[in-house]
Amino acid sequence: MHFVRLVSLAMTVIVIAASLSHIDCANHTPKDRLVESGVAAMEEGDMEAAVRALKAATDLINLDTPDSNDTYIFVNLGTALGEIGQAALSAAQYRKAIDVDGENVDAHYFLGLTLQDMGRNREAADTYAVAASLDRMHWESMSNLGAVLLDLTDYSGSVAAFSEAIGTLEQREVEPTNAPYDPFPILSQLYYRRGMALSGGSSGGNRGGVCVVQAQSDDPGGKDVDCGEMAKFSFSKAVSYDEGNEAAKHMLAALTADATMKRASNSYVKGLFDEYAGNFEHSLVVDLGYKGFQLLRNFVGEVLGEENLKFGLVVDAGCGTGLIGNEFRGVSRTLVGMDLSKKIIDEAKIKRPGLYDRTYVGDIVEGIRAEGGKIDLVIAADSFIYFGDLGALFESIRDGLRRGGYVAFTLEDVGMEDARILDSERPDWRWKLTPSGRFAHRKGYIEDVLKASGFVLVGYGAMENFRYENGVGVMGHMLVARKV
Ligand SMILES: C[S@@+](CC[C@H](N)C(=O)[O-])C[C@H]1O[C@@H](n2cnc3c(N)ncnc32)[C@H](O)[C@@H]1O
Repeated sequence: MHFVRLVSLAMTVIVIAASLSHIDCANHTPKDRLVESGVAAMEEGDMEAAVRALKAATDLINLDTPDSNDTYIFVNLGTALGEIGQAALSAAQYRKAIDVDGENVDAHYFLGLTLQDMGRNREAADTYAVAASLDRMHWESMSNLGAVLLDLTDYSGSVAAFSEAIGTLEQREVEPTNAPYDPFPILSQLYYRRGMALSGGSSGGNRGGVCVVQAQSDDPGGKDVDCGEMAKFSFSKAVSYDEGNEAAKHMLAALTADATMKRASNSYVKGLFDEYAGNFEHSLVVDLGYKGFQLLRNFVGEVLGEENLKFGLVVDAGCGTGLIGNEFRGVSRTLVGMDLSKKIIDEAKIKRPGLYDRTYVGDIVEGIRAEGGKIDLVIAADSFIYFGDLGALFESIRDGLRRGGYVAFTLEDVGMEDARILDSERPDWRWKLTPSGRFAHRKGYIEDVLKASGFVLVGYGAMENFRYENGVGVMGHMLVARKV
């Protein structure tokens, strides 16, 4: 899973102010006047004019005898170039600023942000590390270093960087650089991300391991602690700093195996997939080897007969970028894509223009019911996994389908070892919220829900390795049911 940076380029305003404060109005040189007009243009949002003025100012810099103001001229030019989408030129200006003054923290920090935007995560990490070493109170560099290392799956490095950023904001002795007005929401985000790094990112790659990172003084345990325990602690701190942090609440419930959780909250799912949207398909299909959408399409053909596949209104529930919708386009007269995440629907429109005749941004429970008994087929690949209790969902599907209509969907199963433990210790188990934050269901429970909601099961297939997590194949179910 890809994480966006924590801190935005809006911070550059501080740099502009710093630059202006160095200009003595009485003795304006041509260079000063150009800087002034460049900065004024930036403040007015006219970045093209800013680039012209600041570029002209840099031409007047004597590189044999530069002064500290000159560093900021390069920094501001870099920022203005970044604003007009010239990332490579922007990075070059930050590098010139660093050539003039290698200890300028802002230049390193903004270079890091630009490199991160360009997807050059390794270089961005090195650059943030330099900024943080120059100013130990620069929590933003540490935070972004943590985020980049998480993307690079350097979990222990990421945990260390987030811990450092947290420590800087929580201590009371020295004012942090660019101290946030309200540190609580930021601390909540930092603890959440530290929790994700401790659990090995969204795939839970670090689960069960022993964390060799330095524990904080108020962390439970000493130096070598169970990563899962530290992750739980981090998520609970995230919630204590911001009770509205749904992602942290969800992950905490997943790690504590909270049996009372019936479904993921809409804000958690929306936040997750809004953030994930740009990288979603690559990450799911290439990195995680996801093929549930193809397996489900083939299964529907086998169960109903390929020659019979001709549907009127088809709803793709939790459509994502349209992987499964694409498989059913040829057999659907009208195809509707429904998803909680607007960003992922936008991505579907970019990737597969015209795939859907209609889209709906919102909860499928409401969206499907609103179709009022006109749907011929509901398809759902890898999207019902955000529901534990399936009751309300299948009642809505029943209301949305015409009589005799079908629902074809996939769900996750627990692994063999988990199934053995659950069957012996909790023989009545129905679903399990897994440490990945998704739900796995027991086959018998799914069958019960279908029956209770007015469906007859027409096909069941076990899915093996339909996705991979840390190299381990995930097990799943495929089902086709008809409304009776
Ligand atoms: C793992 S993706 C799968 C996307 C697609 N079906 C596929 O096979 O590629 C899960 C999708 O379900 C959506 N989703 C999960 N719960 C939802 C809900 N309650 N209402 C609408 N969409 C939901 C998510 O936003 C996400 O886009």
